[in-house]
Amino acid sequence: MFEGHILVVGAGGIGRKHIPAFLKAGWKVSACDVDPERLGRARDAFALEGTFGDFWNVDLRDFDAVFISTPAPWHVPMATRCAEEGIPFLVEKPLSVSLGGVERLLELVEGNVVPCAVGFTRRSVPSFRRFGELLKGGVVGEVKLGLFNISQDYPKYRPDYSRTYFAREDMGGGCILDVVSHIVDLAQWYLGKPEEGGALYGKLSFGPEVETEDTAIVLGKFGGKFVSIVSNLFQKPYRVDVEMVGEEGNIRYLAEDRGISRILVARDDSGTWEEVERFQGELRDFYLRQAEEFGRLLEGKPTPLTTLREAADNLMFCLSLKERGWT
Ligand SMILES: NC(=O)c1ccc[n+]([C@@H]2O[C@H](COP(=O)([O-])OP(=O)(O)OC[C@H]3O[C@@H](n4cnc5c(N)ncnc54)[C@H](O)[C@@H]3O)[C@@H](O)[C@H]2O)c1
Repeated sequence: MFEGHILVVGAGGIGRKHIPAFLKAGWKVSACDVDPERLGRARDAFALEGTFGDFWNVDLRDFDAVFISTPAPWHVPMATRCAEEGIPFLVEKPLSVSLGGVERLLELVEGNVVPCAVGFTRRSVPSFRRFGELLKGGVVGEVKLGLFNISQDYPKYRPDYSRTYFAREDMGGGCILDVVSHIVDLAQWYLGKPEEGGALYGKLSFGPEVETEDTAIVLGKFGGKFVSIVSNLFQKPYRVDVEMVGEEGNIRYLAEDRGISRILVARDDSGTWEEVERFQGELRDFYLRQAEEFGRLLEGKPTPLTTLREAADNLMFCLSLKERGWT
Protein backbone atom coordinates (compact mmCIF):
# COMPACT_ATOMS: atom_id res chain seq x y z
CA MET A 1 0.00 0.00 0.00
CA PHE A 2 1.35 3.42 -0.97
CA GLU A 3 1.39 5.76 2.04
CA GLY A 4 2.40 9.14 0.68
CA HIS A 5 1.07 12.64 1.25
CA ILE A 6 -1.35 13.91 -1.38
CA LEU A 7 -2.65 17.41 -2.02
CA VAL A 8 -6.29 17.39 -3.14
CA VAL A 9 -6.86 20.56 -5.19
CA GLY A 10 -10.52 21.59 -5.12
CA ALA A 11 -12.66 20.57 -2.15
CA GLY A 12 -15.92 20.88 -4.10
CA GLY A 13 -18.52 18.29 -5.01
CA ILE A 14 -16.11 15.58 -6.09
CA GLY A 15 -13.05 16.64 -4.06
CA ARG A 16 -15.08 15.89 -0.92
CA LYS A 17 -15.55 12.32 -2.11
CA HIS A 18 -11.90 11.81 -3.00
CA ILE A 19 -10.51 13.10 0.32
CA PRO A 20 -12.03 10.27 2.45
CA ALA A 21 -11.12 7.76 -0.26
CA PHE A 22 -7.44 8.71 -0.14
CA LEU A 23 -7.52 8.70 3.69
CA LYS A 24 -9.07 5.21 3.67
CA ALA A 25 -6.45 4.05 1.16
CA GLY A 26 -3.75 4.98 3.68
CA TRP A 27 -2.59 8.34 2.35
CA LYS A 28 -1.95 11.51 4.34
CA VAL A 29 -4.18 14.17 2.79
CA SER A 30 -4.02 17.96 2.59
CA ALA A 31 -6.59 20.03 0.73
CA CYS A 32 -6.56 23.33 -1.07
CA ASP A 33 -9.45 25.45 -2.30
CA VAL A 34 -9.80 29.12 -3.18
CA ASP A 35 -13.22 29.09 -1.52
CA PRO A 36 -12.60 29.50 2.25
CA GLU A 37 -16.04 28.15 3.15
CA ARG A 38 -15.51 24.90 1.23
CA LEU A 39 -12.04 24.57 2.68
CA GLY A 40 -13.42 25.08 6.19
CA ARG A 41 -16.06 22.41 5.64
CA ALA A 42 -13.38 19.96 4.49
CA ARG A 43 -11.21 20.84 7.51
CA ASP A 44 -14.14 20.14 9.84
CA ALA A 45 -15.14 16.88 8.16
CA PHE A 46 -11.82 15.12 7.57
CA ALA A 47 -8.52 14.40 9.34
CA LEU A 48 -6.41 16.61 7.06
CA GLU A 49 -2.68 17.25 7.46
CA GLY A 50 -3.07 20.81 6.26
CA THR A 51 -5.27 23.23 4.31
CA PHE A 52 -4.25 25.81 1.72
CA GLY A 53 -5.90 28.49 -0.43
CA ASP A 54 -4.95 28.98 -4.06
CA PHE A 55 -3.10 26.06 -5.70
CA TRP A 56 -0.73 28.47 -7.43
CA ASN A 57 0.69 29.56 -4.05
CA VAL A 58 1.23 26.06 -2.61
CA ASP A 59 4.78 24.64 -2.48
CA LEU A 60 4.38 21.24 -4.15
CA ARG A 61 7.71 19.94 -2.85
CA ASP A 62 5.91 19.02 0.38
CA PHE A 63 3.80 16.40 -1.42
CA ASP A 64 4.29 13.00 -3.03
CA ALA A 65 1.40 13.56 -5.41
CA VAL A 66 -1.41 15.94 -6.37
CA PHE A 67 -5.03 15.15 -7.11
CA ILE A 68 -6.63 17.80 -9.34
CA SER A 69 -10.40 18.03 -8.78
CA THR A 70 -11.06 21.56 -9.97
CA PRO A 71 -13.35 22.23 -12.96
CA ALA A 72 -11.98 21.13 -16.35
CA PRO A 73 -10.59 24.49 -17.64
CA TRP A 74 -7.94 24.31 -14.86
CA HIS A 75 -6.94 20.69 -15.38
CA VAL A 76 -4.27 21.23 -18.05
CA PRO A 77 -2.58 24.29 -16.47
CA MET A 78 -2.49 22.61 -13.04
CA ALA A 79 -1.29 19.28 -14.45
CA THR A 80 1.37 21.13 -16.46
CA ARG A 81 2.71 22.74 -13.30
CA CYS A 82 2.88 19.29 -11.62
CA ALA A 83 4.63 17.81 -14.67
CA GLU A 84 7.14 20.68 -14.82
CA GLU A 85 7.95 20.18 -11.14
CA GLY A 86 8.09 16.38 -11.49
CA ILE A 87 5.18 15.76 -9.09
CA PRO A 88 2.98 12.72 -9.89
CA PHE A 89 -0.66 13.62 -10.36
CA LEU A 90 -4.13 12.23 -10.90
CA VAL A 91 -6.48 14.62 -12.66
CA GLU A 92 -10.27 14.52 -12.89
CA LYS A 93 -12.00 13.98 -16.22
CA PRO A 94 -12.46 15.39 -18.80
CA LEU A 95 -8.83 16.30 -19.46
CA SER A 96 -9.88 19.78 -20.60
CA VAL A 97 -12.46 21.79 -22.53
CA SER A 98 -10.17 22.53 -25.48
CA LEU A 99 -6.95 21.19 -26.98
CA GLY A 100 -4.94 24.22 -25.78
CA GLY A 101 -1.83 23.11 -23.89
CA VAL A 102 -2.61 19.39 -24.26
CA GLU A 103 0.30 18.54 -26.61
CA ARG A 104 2.81 20.32 -24.39
CA LEU A 105 1.47 18.46 -21.33
CA LEU A 106 1.80 15.13 -23.16
CA GLU A 107 5.39 15.96 -24.14
CA LEU A 108 6.21 16.86 -20.54
CA VAL A 109 4.76 13.73 -18.93
CA GLU A 110 6.02 11.36 -21.61
CA GLY A 111 9.48 13.00 -21.78
CA ASN A 112 10.06 13.32 -18.03
CA VAL A 113 8.15 10.10 -17.26
CA VAL A 114 6.01 11.69 -14.56
CA PRO A 115 3.56 9.08 -13.21
CA CYS A 116 0.08 10.41 -13.89
CA ALA A 117 -3.41 9.35 -14.88
CA VAL A 118 -6.89 10.71 -15.55
CA GLY A 119 -9.76 9.81 -13.21
CA PHE A 120 -12.20 7.91 -15.38
CA THR A 121 -13.38 6.07 -12.30
CA ARG A 122 -14.91 2.97 -13.87
CA ARG A 123 -11.52 1.57 -14.88
CA SER A 124 -10.83 0.84 -11.19
CA VAL A 125 -14.18 -0.86 -10.52
CA PRO A 126 -14.10 -4.70 -10.37
CA SER A 127 -17.26 -5.30 -12.47
CA PHE A 128 -16.04 -3.15 -15.37
CA ARG A 129 -12.61 -4.76 -15.17
CA ARG A 130 -14.13 -8.24 -15.18
CA PHE A 131 -16.27 -7.35 -18.21
CA GLY A 132 -13.09 -6.34 -20.06
CA GLU A 133 -11.28 -9.51 -19.02
CA LEU A 134 -14.13 -11.68 -20.29
CA LEU A 135 -14.23 -9.78 -23.57
CA LYS A 136 -10.51 -10.05 -24.09
CA GLY A 137 -10.65 -13.74 -23.11
CA GLY A 138 -12.89 -14.27 -26.15
CA VAL A 139 -16.10 -15.27 -24.33
CA VAL A 140 -18.21 -14.17 -27.33
CA GLY A 141 -15.56 -14.51 -30.02
CA GLU A 142 -14.31 -11.52 -31.92
CA VAL A 143 -16.29 -8.41 -31.00
CA LYS A 144 -17.56 -6.38 -33.93
CA LEU A 145 -20.04 -3.98 -32.37
CA GLY A 146 -20.42 -2.15 -29.05
CA LEU A 147 -23.72 -0.66 -27.82
CA PHE A 148 -23.70 1.65 -24.81
CA ASN A 149 -26.54 3.30 -22.90
CA ILE A 150 -25.65 5.09 -19.68
CA SER A 151 -28.52 7.28 -18.51
CA GLN A 152 -29.91 8.44 -15.20
CA ASP A 153 -31.99 11.04 -13.34
CA TYR A 154 -28.99 13.36 -12.87
CA PRO A 155 -30.84 16.11 -10.94
CA LYS A 156 -31.79 13.51 -8.33
CA TYR A 157 -28.14 12.61 -7.70
CA ARG A 158 -26.70 16.11 -8.14
CA PRO A 159 -29.53 18.45 -6.97
CA ASP A 160 -27.28 21.52 -7.39
CA TYR A 161 -26.54 20.59 -11.05
CA SER A 162 -27.83 23.87 -12.47
CA ARG A 163 -25.35 25.81 -10.31
CA THR A 164 -22.28 23.62 -10.97
CA TYR A 165 -19.81 23.25 -13.84
CA PHE A 166 -22.36 20.91 -15.48
CA ALA A 167 -24.62 23.80 -16.52
CA ARG A 168 -21.86 25.72 -18.32
CA GLU A 169 -20.20 25.08 -21.69
CA ASP A 170 -16.97 26.86 -20.77
CA MET A 171 -16.60 24.77 -17.60
CA GLY A 172 -16.76 21.39 -19.35
CA GLY A 173 -20.41 20.74 -18.58
CA GLY A 174 -23.11 18.96 -20.57
CA CYS A 175 -23.81 15.37 -21.40
CA ILE A 176 -20.96 14.94 -23.93
CA LEU A 177 -17.98 16.15 -21.92
CA ASP A 178 -19.36 15.02 -18.58
CA VAL A 179 -20.96 11.61 -19.17
CA VAL A 180 -20.27 10.55 -22.77
CA SER A 181 -16.55 11.10 -22.03
CA HIS A 182 -16.85 8.30 -19.42
CA ILE A 183 -18.47 6.04 -22.03
CA VAL A 184 -15.83 6.93 -24.62
CA ASP A 185 -13.23 5.95 -22.04
CA LEU A 186 -14.90 2.54 -21.59
CA ALA A 187 -15.21 2.04 -25.35
CA GLN A 188 -11.56 2.85 -25.96
CA TRP A 189 -10.51 0.60 -23.05
CA TYR A 190 -12.57 -2.32 -24.36
CA LEU A 191 -12.33 -1.81 -28.13
CA GLY A 192 -9.57 0.63 -29.10
CA LYS A 193 -8.82 4.20 -30.03
CA PRO A 194 -11.73 6.49 -31.00
CA GLU A 195 -11.29 7.15 -34.70
CA GLU A 196 -14.24 9.02 -36.09
CA GLY A 197 -17.76 9.81 -35.05
CA GLY A 198 -20.81 12.01 -35.13
CA ALA A 199 -23.56 12.97 -32.71
CA LEU A 200 -27.09 14.19 -32.40
CA TYR A 201 -27.29 16.09 -29.14
CA GLY A 202 -29.32 18.76 -27.40
CA LYS A 203 -31.31 19.87 -24.39
CA LEU A 204 -34.52 17.87 -24.32
CA SER A 205 -35.64 18.31 -20.73
CA PHE A 206 -33.51 20.64 -18.60
CA GLY A 207 -34.60 24.27 -18.23
CA PRO A 208 -33.07 27.63 -19.26
CA GLU A 209 -30.85 27.73 -16.16
CA VAL A 210 -28.72 25.02 -17.86
CA GLU A 211 -26.96 26.06 -21.10
CA THR A 212 -25.57 22.61 -21.89
CA GLU A 213 -27.08 19.52 -23.53
CA ASP A 214 -28.78 16.81 -21.46
CA THR A 215 -28.89 14.16 -24.19
CA ALA A 216 -26.52 12.72 -26.80
CA ILE A 217 -26.74 9.94 -29.38
CA VAL A 218 -23.31 9.13 -30.76
CA LEU A 219 -22.11 6.86 -33.54
CA GLY A 220 -18.40 6.15 -33.81
CA LYS A 221 -15.60 3.79 -34.70
CA PHE A 222 -13.25 2.56 -31.98
CA GLY A 223 -10.28 0.44 -33.01
CA GLY A 224 -12.19 -0.35 -36.21
CA LYS A 225 -15.32 -1.55 -34.34
CA PHE A 226 -18.70 0.10 -34.74
CA VAL A 227 -20.03 1.77 -31.57
CA SER A 228 -23.28 3.45 -30.60
CA ILE A 229 -23.60 5.52 -27.45
CA VAL A 230 -26.86 6.80 -25.98
CA SER A 231 -26.98 8.95 -22.88
CA ASN A 232 -29.63 11.17 -21.37
CA LEU A 233 -29.59 12.74 -17.93
CA PHE A 234 -33.29 13.15 -17.23
CA GLN A 235 -34.84 9.69 -17.52
CA LYS A 236 -36.21 8.27 -14.26
CA PRO A 237 -34.80 4.72 -14.33
CA TYR A 238 -31.08 4.32 -13.68
CA ARG A 239 -29.39 2.40 -16.48
CA VAL A 240 -25.90 1.23 -17.34
CA ASP A 241 -26.25 -1.09 -20.30
CA VAL A 242 -23.23 -2.13 -22.32
CA GLU A 243 -23.62 -4.86 -24.91
CA MET A 244 -20.85 -6.24 -27.07
CA VAL A 245 -21.81 -8.17 -30.15
CA GLY A 246 -19.31 -10.91 -30.95
CA GLU A 247 -19.23 -13.53 -33.64
CA GLU A 248 -20.05 -16.28 -31.09
CA GLY A 249 -22.58 -14.44 -28.93
CA ASN A 250 -23.32 -11.26 -27.01
CA ILE A 251 -22.03 -10.17 -23.60
CA ARG A 252 -23.90 -7.56 -21.62
CA TYR A 253 -23.10 -5.42 -18.57
CA LEU A 254 -26.37 -4.40 -16.98
CA ALA A 255 -27.07 -2.24 -13.92
CA GLU A 256 -30.68 -1.18 -13.44
CA ASP A 257 -30.12 0.29 -10.01
CA ARG A 258 -27.10 1.74 -8.25
CA GLY A 259 -26.60 -1.39 -6.12
CA ILE A 260 -26.30 -4.39 -8.44
CA SER A 261 -24.38 -4.92 -11.68
CA ARG A 262 -24.69 -8.13 -13.68
CA ILE A 263 -22.69 -9.59 -16.53
CA LEU A 264 -24.78 -11.76 -18.86
CA VAL A 265 -23.92 -13.84 -21.90
CA ALA A 266 -26.18 -15.14 -24.70
CA ARG A 267 -24.71 -17.63 -27.16
CA ASP A 268 -27.73 -18.29 -29.37
CA ASP A 269 -31.24 -17.03 -30.20
CA SER A 270 -33.08 -19.11 -27.57
CA GLY A 271 -33.70 -16.00 -25.45
CA THR A 272 -31.53 -17.32 -22.64
CA TRP A 273 -29.04 -14.97 -21.03
CA GLU A 274 -26.68 -16.73 -18.62
CA GLU A 275 -25.66 -14.59 -15.64
CA VAL A 276 -21.91 -15.14 -15.37
CA GLU A 277 -21.10 -12.56 -12.68
CA ARG A 278 -22.98 -10.38 -10.18
CA PHE A 279 -21.49 -7.48 -8.22
CA GLN A 280 -23.16 -5.75 -5.29
CA GLY A 281 -22.62 -2.40 -3.54
CA GLU A 282 -19.67 -1.27 -5.66
CA LEU A 283 -20.64 2.39 -5.79
CA ARG A 284 -19.52 3.21 -2.26
CA ASP A 285 -15.95 2.15 -3.11
CA PHE A 286 -15.64 3.79 -6.57
CA TYR A 287 -13.23 6.47 -5.38
CA LEU A 288 -11.37 4.22 -2.93
CA ARG A 289 -10.55 1.77 -5.73
CA GLN A 290 -9.18 4.59 -7.85
CA ALA A 291 -7.05 5.93 -4.98
CA GLU A 292 -5.64 2.40 -4.48
CA GLU A 293 -4.84 2.09 -8.19
CA PHE A 294 -3.10 5.45 -8.15
CA GLY A 295 -0.95 4.18 -5.25
CA ARG A 296 -0.08 1.12 -7.33
CA LEU A 297 0.88 3.40 -10.24
CA LEU A 298 3.30 5.26 -7.96
CA GLU A 299 4.80 1.94 -6.85
CA GLY A 300 5.53 1.23 -10.52
CA LYS A 301 2.94 -1.55 -10.78
CA PRO A 302 0.64 -2.01 -13.78
CA THR A 303 -2.77 -0.40 -13.43
CA PRO A 304 -5.80 0.03 -15.69
CA LEU A 305 -5.91 3.80 -15.08
CA THR A 306 -6.49 6.01 -18.12
CA THR A 307 -3.27 7.47 -19.51
CA LEU A 308 -3.01 11.11 -20.45
CA ARG A 309 -2.60 10.09 -24.10
CA GLU A 310 -5.88 8.12 -23.98
CA ALA A 311 -7.65 11.02 -22.25
CA ALA A 312 -6.33 13.38 -24.96
CA ASP A 313 -7.75 11.09 -27.69
CA ASN A 314 -11.03 10.98 -25.76
CA LEU A 315 -11.13 14.78 -25.51
CA MET A 316 -10.38 15.20 -29.21
CA PHE A 317 -13.22 12.81 -30.06
CA CYS A 318 -15.73 14.51 -27.72
CA LEU A 319 -14.82 17.98 -28.99
CA SER A 320 -15.25 16.80 -32.58
CA LEU A 321 -18.75 15.51 -31.68
CA LYS A 322 -19.66 18.95 -30.34
CA GLU A 323 -18.20 20.74 -33.37
CA ARG A 324 -19.58 18.53 -36.08
CA GLY A 325 -22.73 17.15 -34.46
CA TRP A 326 -26.36 18.09 -35.08
CA THR A 327 -28.28 19.85 -32.36
N1 LIG B 1 -15.11 11.01 -11.95
C1 LIG B 1 -16.37 11.36 -11.76
O1 LIG B 1 -17.24 10.51 -11.75
C2 LIG B 1 -16.71 12.81 -11.55
C3 LIG B 1 -17.90 13.17 -10.92
C4 LIG B 1 -18.18 14.52 -10.73
C5 LIG B 1 -17.27 15.50 -11.17
N2 LIG B 1 -16.12 15.12 -11.81
C6 LIG B 1 -15.17 16.13 -12.32
O2 LIG B 1 -14.52 16.75 -11.23
C7 LIG B 1 -14.22 18.11 -11.54
C8 LIG B 1 -14.72 19.00 -10.41
O3 LIG B 1 -16.12 18.85 -10.27
P1 LIG B 1 -16.88 19.34 -8.96
O4 LIG B 1 -18.29 18.95 -9.14
O5 LIG B 1 -16.18 18.87 -7.73
O6 LIG B 1 -16.72 20.93 -9.11
P2 LIG B 1 -16.93 22.01 -7.96
O7 LIG B 1 -17.10 23.32 -8.64
O8 LIG B 1 -17.97 21.54 -6.98
O9 LIG B 1 -15.52 22.03 -7.17
C9 LIG B 1 -14.33 22.52 -7.71
C10 LIG B 1 -13.55 23.27 -6.63
O10 LIG B 1 -12.30 23.72 -7.15
C11 LIG B 1 -11.97 24.93 -6.48
N3 LIG B 1 -10.91 25.66 -7.19
C12 LIG B 1 -10.99 26.33 -8.37
N4 LIG B 1 -9.80 26.91 -8.64
C13 LIG B 1 -8.95 26.61 -7.65
C14 LIG B 1 -7.58 26.93 -7.37
N5 LIG B 1 -6.83 27.73 -8.17
N6 LIG B 1 -7.00 26.46 -6.24
C15 LIG B 1 -7.73 25.69 -5.39
N7 LIG B 1 -9.04 25.36 -5.60
C16 LIG B 1 -9.64 25.81 -6.70
C17 LIG B 1 -13.32 25.66 -6.44
O11 LIG B 1 -13.33 26.69 -5.45
C18 LIG B 1 -14.29 24.52 -6.11
O12 LIG B 1 -14.53 24.39 -4.72
C19 LIG B 1 -14.87 18.39 -12.91
O13 LIG B 1 -13.89 18.33 -13.91
C20 LIG B 1 -15.85 17.24 -13.09
O14 LIG B 1 -16.01 16.87 -14.45
C21 LIG B 1 -15.84 13.81 -11.97
